[in-house]
Amino acid sequence: MTTSPLAELSTHVSTLKSRIVQAATLAELLADEPFIVGKRSILSTLQKSLGALAPEDRKAAGAELQEARRGVEETFALRRAELENAARAIALEADRLDLGDVVVAHVTAPLAVGHPGIVAATQRQLEDVFVAMGFTVSDGPEVESDWYNFEALNIPPAHPARGMWDTFYVDLGEPETVVLRTHTSPTQIHLMEEAVAAGTLPIHGVMPGRCFRRDTPDARHLATFHQIEGLVVDRGITFADLAGVIETFTHAYFGADISSRLRPAFFPFTEPSAEFEITCTICRGEGCRTCSQTGWIELGGCGMLDPAVLEAVGVHGDEWSGFAFGFGIDRCAQMRHQIADMRALIDNDVRFLRQFS
Ligand code: DAH
Repeated sequence: MTTSPLAELSTHVSTLKSRIVQAATLAELLADEPFIVGKRSILSTLQKSLGALAPEDRKAAGAELQEARRGVEETFALRRAELENAARAIALEADRLDLGDVVVAHVTAPLAVGHPGIVAATQRQLEDVFVAMGFTVSDGPEVESDWYNFEALNIPPAHPARGMWDTFYVDLGEPETVVLRTHTSPTQIHLMEEAVAAGTLPIHGVMPGRCFRRDTPDARHLATFHQIEGLVVDRGITFADLAGVIETFTHAYFGADISSRLRPAFFPFTEPSAEFEITCTICRGEGCRTCSQTGWIELGGCGMLDPAVLEAVGVHGDEWSGFAFGFGIDRCAQMRHQIADMRALIDNDVRFLRQFS
Protein backbone atom coordinates (compact mmCIF):
# COMPACT_ATOMS: atom_id res chain seq x y z
CA MET A 1 0.00 0.00 0.00
CA THR A 2 1.44 3.39 -0.99
CA THR A 3 1.50 6.14 1.63
CA SER A 4 -1.03 8.89 1.01
CA PRO A 5 0.57 12.11 -0.34
CA LEU A 6 -1.34 13.84 2.44
CA ALA A 7 0.26 11.82 5.27
CA GLU A 8 2.31 14.84 6.35
CA LEU A 9 -0.43 17.36 5.64
CA SER A 10 -1.05 18.53 9.20
CA THR A 11 2.70 19.05 9.74
CA HIS A 12 2.88 21.11 6.55
CA VAL A 13 -0.10 23.13 7.65
CA SER A 14 1.44 23.92 11.05
CA THR A 15 4.75 24.90 9.43
CA LEU A 16 2.97 27.20 7.00
CA LYS A 17 0.87 28.80 9.74
CA SER A 18 3.88 29.48 11.92
CA ARG A 19 5.71 31.05 8.96
CA ILE A 20 2.70 33.30 8.49
CA VAL A 21 2.53 34.32 12.12
CA GLN A 22 6.25 34.93 12.28
CA ALA A 23 6.27 37.40 9.38
CA ALA A 24 7.19 40.67 11.09
CA THR A 25 6.21 43.10 8.36
CA LEU A 26 3.71 43.30 5.56
CA ALA A 27 6.55 43.26 3.02
CA GLU A 28 7.97 40.10 4.52
CA LEU A 29 4.60 38.36 4.47
CA LEU A 30 3.85 39.36 0.89
CA ALA A 31 7.30 38.21 -0.24
CA ASP A 32 6.53 34.80 1.24
CA GLU A 33 3.03 34.60 -0.27
CA PRO A 34 3.96 32.42 -3.31
CA PHE A 35 5.58 29.86 -0.98
CA ILE A 36 2.66 29.77 1.45
CA VAL A 37 -0.53 29.91 -0.57
CA GLY A 38 0.73 30.46 -4.12
CA LYS A 39 2.02 28.28 -6.91
CA ARG A 40 5.28 27.46 -5.13
CA SER A 41 3.57 26.35 -1.96
CA ILE A 42 3.76 22.78 -0.74
CA LEU A 43 -0.01 22.83 -0.96
CA SER A 44 0.19 23.27 -4.75
CA THR A 45 2.72 20.49 -5.03
CA LEU A 46 0.42 18.22 -3.07
CA GLN A 47 -2.50 19.25 -5.25
CA LYS A 48 -0.62 18.04 -8.33
CA SER A 49 0.31 14.78 -6.67
CA LEU A 50 -3.34 13.94 -6.12
CA GLY A 51 -3.49 13.04 -9.81
CA ALA A 52 -1.55 9.87 -9.02
CA LEU A 53 -4.22 8.64 -6.63
CA ALA A 54 -6.82 6.12 -7.53
CA PRO A 55 -9.95 7.93 -8.65
CA GLU A 56 -11.96 6.61 -5.71
CA ASP A 57 -9.42 8.11 -3.23
CA ARG A 58 -8.91 11.32 -5.10
CA LYS A 59 -12.16 12.99 -4.11
CA ALA A 60 -11.67 12.60 -0.35
CA ALA A 61 -8.01 13.63 -0.56
CA GLY A 62 -8.98 16.65 -2.64
CA ALA A 63 -11.53 17.72 -0.03
CA GLU A 64 -9.00 17.24 2.76
CA LEU A 65 -6.41 19.32 0.95
CA GLN A 66 -8.99 21.96 0.17
CA GLU A 67 -9.91 22.20 3.84
CA ALA A 68 -6.24 22.51 4.83
CA ARG A 69 -5.68 25.23 2.24
CA ARG A 70 -8.69 27.17 3.49
CA GLY A 71 -7.21 27.15 7.00
CA VAL A 72 -3.83 28.40 5.79
CA GLU A 73 -5.43 31.08 3.65
CA GLU A 74 -7.51 32.28 6.55
CA THR A 75 -4.45 32.59 8.79
CA PHE A 76 -2.69 34.41 5.96
CA ALA A 77 -5.58 36.87 5.50
CA LEU A 78 -5.77 37.60 9.22
CA ARG A 79 -2.05 38.26 9.51
CA ARG A 80 -2.10 40.37 6.39
CA ALA A 81 -4.89 42.57 7.78
CA GLU A 82 -3.00 42.88 11.05
CA LEU A 83 0.23 43.97 9.34
CA GLU A 84 -1.62 46.35 7.01
CA ASN A 85 -3.22 48.11 9.98
CA ALA A 86 0.14 48.41 11.67
CA ALA A 87 1.69 49.89 8.50
CA ARG A 88 -1.16 52.41 8.22
CA ALA A 89 -0.76 53.47 11.84
CA ILE A 90 2.95 54.06 11.29
CA ALA A 91 2.27 56.16 8.17
CA LEU A 92 -0.35 58.25 9.99
CA GLU A 93 1.97 58.83 12.88
CA ALA A 94 4.61 60.10 10.48
CA ASP A 95 2.11 62.45 8.80
CA ARG A 96 0.62 63.81 11.95
CA LEU A 97 1.08 67.57 12.48
CA ASP A 98 1.35 68.62 16.06
CA LEU A 99 0.71 72.31 16.69
CA GLY A 100 1.31 72.67 20.38
CA ASP A 101 -1.06 70.27 22.02
CA VAL A 102 -3.58 70.32 19.24
CA VAL A 103 -3.44 67.47 16.80
CA VAL A 104 -4.59 69.21 13.69
CA ALA A 105 -4.97 66.64 10.99
CA HIS A 106 -3.70 63.55 9.34
CA VAL A 107 -2.47 65.12 6.19
CA THR A 108 -2.08 62.81 3.28
CA ALA A 109 -1.96 65.43 0.52
CA PRO A 110 -0.10 68.75 0.62
CA LEU A 111 -2.42 71.60 1.62
CA ALA A 112 -2.38 74.83 -0.37
CA VAL A 113 -1.95 77.44 2.37
CA GLY A 114 -2.93 80.98 1.47
CA HIS A 115 -1.26 84.23 2.51
CA PRO A 116 -2.32 87.86 2.79
CA GLY A 117 -2.82 89.51 -0.60
CA ILE A 118 -0.30 92.09 -1.71
CA VAL A 119 -2.56 95.06 -0.90
CA ALA A 120 -3.42 93.76 2.60
CA ALA A 121 0.27 93.06 3.23
CA THR A 122 1.24 96.55 2.00
CA GLN A 123 -1.39 98.14 4.22
CA ARG A 124 0.02 96.29 7.23
CA GLN A 125 3.58 97.38 6.40
CA LEU A 126 2.49 101.01 6.03
CA GLU A 127 0.66 100.85 9.36
CA ASP A 128 3.81 99.44 10.97
CA VAL A 129 5.91 102.32 9.65
CA PHE A 130 3.49 104.93 11.01
CA VAL A 131 2.96 103.16 14.32
CA ALA A 132 6.74 103.19 14.78
CA MET A 133 6.57 106.97 14.26
CA GLY A 134 3.97 107.33 17.03
CA PHE A 135 0.72 107.30 15.03
CA THR A 136 -2.40 105.34 15.99
CA VAL A 137 -4.45 103.42 13.39
CA SER A 138 -8.23 103.91 12.94
CA ASP A 139 -10.75 103.01 10.30
CA GLY A 140 -13.98 104.59 9.17
CA PRO A 141 -17.14 103.79 7.20
CA GLU A 142 -16.98 102.96 3.49
CA VAL A 143 -20.44 104.44 2.97
CA GLU A 144 -20.55 108.10 3.93
CA SER A 145 -23.00 110.97 3.89
CA ASP A 146 -22.27 113.81 1.50
CA TRP A 147 -21.39 115.90 4.55
CA TYR A 148 -18.46 113.71 5.67
CA ASN A 149 -17.16 112.92 2.19
CA PHE A 150 -17.42 116.50 0.86
CA GLU A 151 -19.01 119.31 2.83
CA ALA A 152 -17.08 119.04 6.10
CA LEU A 153 -13.94 118.89 3.96
CA ASN A 154 -14.77 122.34 2.59
CA ILE A 155 -16.24 121.04 -0.67
CA PRO A 156 -19.73 122.60 -0.84
CA PRO A 157 -22.47 121.22 -3.13
CA ALA A 158 -21.92 122.16 -6.76
CA HIS A 159 -18.37 123.33 -5.99
CA PRO A 160 -16.19 122.71 -9.06
CA ALA A 161 -13.71 120.78 -6.88
CA ARG A 162 -16.27 117.96 -6.73
CA GLY A 163 -15.19 117.15 -10.25
CA MET A 164 -11.93 115.86 -8.73
CA TRP A 165 -13.82 112.85 -7.38
CA ASP A 166 -16.07 110.83 -9.71
CA THR A 167 -18.55 109.54 -7.23
CA PHE A 168 -20.68 106.42 -6.81
CA TYR A 169 -23.95 107.39 -5.12
CA VAL A 170 -25.88 104.98 -2.93
CA ASP A 171 -29.63 104.82 -3.43
CA LEU A 172 -30.53 105.82 0.14
CA GLY A 173 -32.33 108.92 1.43
CA GLU A 174 -32.52 112.04 -0.75
CA PRO A 175 -30.84 111.66 -4.15
CA GLU A 176 -27.04 112.13 -4.06
CA THR A 177 -26.79 112.40 -0.27
CA VAL A 178 -25.16 109.03 0.47
CA VAL A 179 -21.93 108.01 -1.29
CA LEU A 180 -19.32 105.30 -1.40
CA ARG A 181 -16.40 107.28 0.01
CA THR A 182 -14.17 108.61 -2.75
CA HIS A 183 -11.17 109.00 -0.41
CA THR A 184 -10.22 108.28 3.21
CA SER A 185 -10.31 112.00 4.10
CA PRO A 186 -13.82 111.78 5.67
CA THR A 187 -12.30 109.57 8.38
CA GLN A 188 -10.29 112.67 9.46
CA ILE A 189 -13.61 114.34 10.18
CA HIS A 190 -14.85 111.40 12.29
CA LEU A 191 -11.59 111.31 14.22
CA MET A 192 -11.62 115.05 14.98
CA GLU A 193 -15.31 114.99 15.97
CA GLU A 194 -14.70 112.10 18.36
CA ALA A 195 -11.61 113.73 19.88
CA VAL A 196 -13.44 117.04 20.38
CA ALA A 197 -16.43 115.25 21.99
CA ALA A 198 -14.19 113.16 24.25
CA GLY A 199 -11.72 116.00 24.96
CA THR A 200 -8.82 113.84 23.76
CA LEU A 201 -6.95 116.18 21.38
CA PRO A 202 -4.12 116.06 20.19
CA ILE A 203 -4.42 113.50 17.36
CA HIS A 204 -1.61 111.66 15.58
CA GLY A 205 -3.41 109.10 13.46
CA VAL A 206 -3.42 107.17 10.22
CA MET A 207 -6.59 105.78 8.64
CA PRO A 208 -6.23 103.12 5.96
CA GLY A 209 -9.20 101.82 3.97
CA ARG A 210 -11.04 101.05 0.79
CA CYS A 211 -12.28 103.82 -1.50
CA PHE A 212 -14.38 103.93 -4.65
CA ARG A 213 -14.42 106.12 -7.75
CA ARG A 214 -16.43 105.99 -10.93
CA ASP A 215 -13.23 105.63 -12.95
CA THR A 216 -12.37 103.31 -15.81
CA PRO A 217 -9.54 101.09 -14.56
CA ASP A 218 -6.21 101.54 -16.31
CA ALA A 219 -2.55 100.72 -15.62
CA ARG A 220 -2.43 103.15 -12.67
CA HIS A 221 -6.05 103.36 -11.45
CA LEU A 222 -8.73 101.02 -10.12
CA ALA A 223 -12.38 101.87 -9.41
CA THR A 224 -12.04 100.19 -6.02
CA PHE A 225 -8.72 101.07 -4.42
CA HIS A 226 -7.13 101.79 -1.05
CA GLN A 227 -5.77 104.89 0.58
CA ILE A 228 -4.09 105.69 3.84
CA GLU A 229 -4.94 109.02 5.40
CA GLY A 230 -2.75 110.78 7.94
CA LEU A 231 -3.85 113.44 10.42
CA VAL A 232 -1.94 115.41 13.02
CA VAL A 233 -3.71 117.97 15.20
CA ASP A 234 -1.53 119.45 17.91
CA ARG A 235 -0.15 122.71 19.19
CA GLY A 236 2.41 124.61 17.10
CA ILE A 237 2.37 122.25 14.10
CA THR A 238 4.05 123.68 10.98
CA PHE A 239 4.58 122.72 7.35
CA ALA A 240 8.11 121.61 8.33
CA ASP A 241 6.56 118.88 10.53
CA LEU A 242 4.53 117.69 7.55
CA ALA A 243 7.55 117.60 5.23
CA GLY A 244 9.58 115.78 7.90
CA VAL A 245 6.93 113.09 8.42
CA ILE A 246 6.61 112.53 4.66
CA GLU A 247 10.37 112.24 4.17
CA THR A 248 10.81 109.95 7.20
CA PHE A 249 8.02 107.72 5.93
CA THR A 250 9.49 107.62 2.41
CA HIS A 251 12.89 106.43 3.62
CA ALA A 252 11.41 103.95 6.08
CA TYR A 253 9.12 102.34 3.53
CA PHE A 254 10.92 102.66 0.19
CA GLY A 255 14.55 102.74 1.33
CA ALA A 256 17.33 105.27 1.86
CA ASP A 257 17.85 105.96 -1.87
CA ILE A 258 14.23 107.06 -2.46
CA SER A 259 13.39 110.68 -1.54
CA SER A 260 10.21 112.72 -1.36
CA ARG A 261 9.34 116.17 -2.66
CA LEU A 262 6.33 118.42 -2.22
CA ARG A 263 4.94 120.45 -5.10
CA PRO A 264 2.28 123.16 -4.78
CA ALA A 265 -1.23 121.86 -5.45
CA PHE A 266 -4.83 122.54 -4.53
CA PHE A 267 -7.11 120.57 -2.21
CA PRO A 268 -10.15 122.26 -0.64
CA PHE A 269 -9.42 120.85 2.83
CA THR A 270 -5.79 121.97 3.15
CA GLU A 271 -4.12 125.35 2.78
CA PRO A 272 -1.40 125.42 1.62
CA SER A 273 -1.68 122.10 -0.20
CA ALA A 274 0.95 120.02 -1.90
CA GLU A 275 1.36 116.97 -4.04
CA PHE A 276 3.64 114.40 -2.52
CA GLU A 277 6.03 112.72 -4.96
CA ILE A 278 8.77 110.14 -4.49
CA THR A 279 11.76 109.21 -6.62
CA CYS A 280 10.56 106.80 -9.32
CA THR A 281 11.40 103.32 -8.01
CA ILE A 282 11.57 101.89 -11.51
CA CYS A 283 14.37 104.12 -12.86
CA ARG A 284 15.64 105.42 -9.48
CA GLY A 285 15.17 108.99 -10.71
CA GLU A 286 16.86 108.63 -14.11
CA GLY A 287 13.59 109.11 -16.04
CA CYS A 288 11.58 106.32 -17.67
CA ARG A 289 8.21 105.65 -19.27
CA THR A 290 6.48 104.95 -15.95
CA CYS A 291 7.38 108.39 -14.55
CA SER A 292 6.98 110.13 -17.94
CA GLN A 293 10.75 110.87 -17.93
CA THR A 294 10.45 113.08 -14.83
CA GLY A 295 12.16 110.74 -12.35
CA TRP A 296 9.28 111.34 -9.89
CA ILE A 297 6.03 109.50 -9.14
CA GLU A 298 3.03 111.08 -7.45
CA LEU A 299 1.84 109.18 -4.38
CA GLY A 300 -0.80 111.51 -2.92
CA GLY A 301 -1.72 114.87 -1.51
CA CYS A 302 -1.10 116.72 1.73
CA GLY A 303 -1.18 120.11 3.37
CA MET A 304 -1.97 122.17 6.46
CA LEU A 305 -5.52 121.75 7.77
CA ASP A 306 -7.78 124.46 6.34
CA PRO A 307 -9.41 126.66 9.05
CA ALA A 308 -12.82 125.89 7.48
CA VAL A 309 -12.31 122.19 8.23
CA LEU A 310 -11.26 122.86 11.83
CA GLU A 311 -14.34 125.03 12.22
CA ALA A 312 -16.66 122.35 10.77
CA VAL A 313 -15.66 119.93 13.52
CA GLY A 314 -15.34 122.45 16.35
CA VAL A 315 -11.54 122.45 16.75
CA HIS A 316 -10.30 125.88 17.91
CA GLY A 317 -7.85 127.15 15.33
CA ASP A 318 -6.20 129.59 17.72
CA GLU A 319 -5.06 126.72 19.94
CA TRP A 320 -4.64 123.84 17.51
CA SER A 321 -3.13 123.46 14.06
CA GLY A 322 -2.31 120.44 12.03
CA PHE A 323 -1.62 118.73 8.75
CA ALA A 324 -3.09 115.88 6.76
CA PHE A 325 -1.97 113.64 3.97
CA GLY A 326 -3.52 110.87 1.93
CA PHE A 327 -2.05 108.48 -0.60
CA GLY A 328 -2.76 105.26 -2.46
CA ILE A 329 -1.89 101.95 -0.83
CA ASP A 330 -2.24 100.12 -4.16
CA ARG A 331 0.10 102.68 -5.72
CA CYS A 332 2.66 101.98 -2.97
CA ALA A 333 2.43 98.25 -3.65
CA GLN A 334 2.82 98.95 -7.37
CA MET A 335 5.89 101.12 -6.82
CA ARG A 336 7.53 98.86 -4.28
CA HIS A 337 7.02 95.69 -6.35
CA GLN A 338 7.32 97.35 -9.75
CA ILE A 339 3.98 96.13 -11.06
CA ALA A 340 3.54 97.52 -14.56
CA ASP A 341 -0.28 97.33 -14.62
CA MET A 342 -2.32 97.80 -11.47
CA ARG A 343 -5.20 95.76 -12.87
CA ALA A 344 -3.10 92.66 -12.09
CA LEU A 345 -4.09 93.30 -8.45
CA ILE A 346 -7.70 92.39 -9.17
CA ASP A 347 -7.25 89.72 -11.87
CA ASN A 348 -7.12 86.95 -9.25
CA ASP A 349 -4.46 85.10 -11.22
CA VAL A 350 -2.77 82.86 -8.65
CA ARG A 351 0.48 82.88 -10.66
CA PHE A 352 0.68 86.62 -10.01
CA LEU A 353 -0.52 86.44 -6.41
CA ARG A 354 1.90 83.65 -5.45
CA GLN A 355 4.89 85.89 -6.18
CA PHE A 356 4.12 87.99 -3.10
CA SER A 357 3.90 85.35 -0.37
N1 DAH B 1 -8.17 112.97 -0.37
C1 DAH B 1 -7.26 113.35 -1.44
C2 DAH B 1 -7.55 112.53 -2.66
O1 DAH B 1 -8.00 111.43 -2.56
C3 DAH B 1 -5.83 113.17 -1.03
C4 DAH B 1 -5.45 114.13 0.05
C5 DAH B 1 -4.95 115.37 -0.30
C6 DAH B 1 -5.61 113.80 1.37
C7 DAH B 1 -4.59 116.27 0.68
C8 DAH B 1 -5.24 114.71 2.35
C9 DAH B 1 -4.72 115.95 1.99
O2 DAH B 1 -5.37 114.44 3.66
O3 DAH B 1 -4.39 116.81 2.96
O4 DAH B 1 -7.34 112.99 -3.74
